Amino acid sequence: MSINNNINRIDVNRYETDISYRLDVISQLAYNENGLKVSNLIIKKNLGKLSDKIISNVKRQIDIPLNESLKNYQKQIFNVFPINIPKNFDLLLKLEQLFLSGFSSEHLFDAIEFPIAVRTAHSELPKEYFNSKYPTDLLHIDIWAGEPSSILNALIYLGGDMDTHCVFKNQDPSILKDLFKIDSAESYKQIHHDYSYLENLPNTASPGDMYLFDSYQLHVTKRSNKLNRGRYSLDFRLCTTDPYSYYSKYKTYEEISKTRYLKYWYLSSSSANSFQKRAELELQTINDKYGKFCEYYFREQSIADMFKLEI
Ligand SMILES: [Fe+2]
Repeated sequence: MSINNNINRIDVNRYETDISYRLDVISQLAYNENGLKVSNLIIKKNLGKLSDKIISNVKRQIDIPLNESLKNYQKQIFNVFPINIPKNFDLLLKLEQLFLSGFSSEHLFDAIEFPIAVRTAHSELPKEYFNSKYPTDLLHIDIWAGEPSSILNALIYLGGDMDTHCVFKNQDPSILKDLFKIDSAESYKQIHHDYSYLENLPNTASPGDMYLFDSYQLHVTKRSNKLNRGRYSLDFRLCTTDPYSYYSKYKTYEEISKTRYLKYWYLSSSSANSFQKRAELELQTINDKYGKFCEYYFREQSIADMFKLEI
């Protein structure tokens, strides 16, 4: 993986003009040898009232009465694992549109992970978690899990145990090359060098705080070790390039299914009032841009697969 190829996919000027002046950039920024800003980008924004609406929507999804706080439900939810949340794509579409409503004039990205998932992080390390492919308790960058380099990671804290949160490392640009010596991995690896000496960046982790960070940012989950507790968040990715522009590299649906590209959709329009409509509009946009080729057929197949999952 060449660093320069990855850098070219990031529209640095857009970050400069749109993000820096409107949002709170809390991290030191890194530049490559050509002077391009490439890494260690973390933006914090308090979503304010928008986060209240998001939390109400999340309660609907996990069947919690609207007048109950997420905190009171921790015990019931976090003493079982895994948690099954019904996949109601119409509700999940609402969640996406709520999120996008906070960015109406800031088109910082071209595509979004759909559906946005509600994530829970247990306060204690779940049993066997280290045997999973991507244990977030290992210091990592998301590219090692196969994420495209042009992503931004969005983490929105909703509630629960805020002592269980993400720790961001203050990277020095000189370590970037080291990070990329490790191939895009099939699983998170213990990194070759010990970067634990790197300073932790501030993370106040209050409900309603959103952190956006790029795919080069080293991060790790810190758990509080409290019993039967956990944190709720929205944890999803945004793509700063057209995800369909990569599809032609793959010959079959099975092949592209092994990548992370299928989960990125164009941003939904507010006229999409159901998952069915959102899917139709997506196919229409793809058809207008690419015609009926692999981009169209792969998405069509993935939509059919999603409908099978819906409850
Ligand atoms: Fe991660």
